[in-house]
Amino acid sequence: MASDSTLRKKVALVTGATQGIGLAIARTLAAAGCHLIISSRSEPRLRRIEKEMTADGISVLALACDVRDPVAIDDLLAATRARFRHIDILINNAGLGQPNISVAKMPLQLWRDVIETNLNGMFLVTKAALPLMKPGSSIVNNLSFSAKRIFPGSSAYTASKHGGLGFTNTLREELRPRGIRVIALLPGATNTPMWQTIWPQAPKKKMMTPETVATAVVNALSIPANSTVEELTIVPTAGAL
Ligand SMILES: NC(=O)c1ccc[n+]([C@@H]2O[C@H](COP(=O)([O-])OP(=O)(O)OC[C@H]3O[C@@H](n4cnc5c(N)ncnc54)[C@H](OP(=O)(O)O)[C@@H]3O)[C@@H](O)[C@H]2O)c1
Repeated sequence: MASDSTLRKKVALVTGATQGIGLAIARTLAAAGCHLIISSRSEPRLRRIEKEMTADGISVLALACDVRDPVAIDDLLAATRARFRHIDILINNAGLGQPNISVAKMPLQLWRDVIETNLNGMFLVTKAALPLMKPGSSIVNNLSFSAKRIFPGSSAYTASKHGGLGFTNTLREELRPRGIRVIALLPGATNTPMWQTIWPQAPKKKMMTPETVATAVVNALSIPANSTVEELTIVPTAGAL
């Protein structure tokens, strides 16, 4: 289990931290003693969570940032540098699901939104954060079971996650000499608002909770710095839905 001594006072930036898996990871990191930078596009949700966390004594910087926007990302990282000087843990979590739709019927704008959020966003945030990361830091890229499996009707999401895995595996080798750990997170079905987009009637009872995924992530981050979990696959015991 995560021990306070490992993660205490570490600085963690979580994208897409206002609901679902990102919010659960942010809360679990805070419970382990981390200082937080949280972001998403929704200003009202950020303000509400910032208020709750501050009341709980958590040191938190909450800033709106669309991960498709390099200027907004630069502003987020400048504010992070001003408040905390560095980042120990980057959680690239912001993501968009897609409704079940064949390639033949896929609107270009939907394709672009999914790829720009899930793949380009991960690249842009990582590139901007790297100058603030020292040896001993960690990056977790929230991909999906879909990074390796194929689901017909999900081409943009599947392409973004397969691409995200290639990006993550490349990044790991580039950062290995710098002592920065890179974890590919591959969760299966998790009960979050994203399912409203993917499959509203999906059987939620078979899914994992976001807190289960968050616990696995924080435990992986808590192992000694001379070891690393390179790929973290976590799925419901029942398997596919
Ligand atoms: N749920 C699952 O079964 C599952 C399984 C495997 C992997 N995942 C992955 O886990 C990650 C989180 O998914 P979730 O299920 O927790 O989804 P979710 O509940 O819909 O949360 C997504 C988060 O990302 C933020 N976001 C979306 N677009 C953004 C953008 N352009 N810029 C910044 N933030 C953005 C959202 O906030 P705003 O809308 O306010 O921006 C929200 O905080 C995604 O990468 C997803 O692919 C989910």
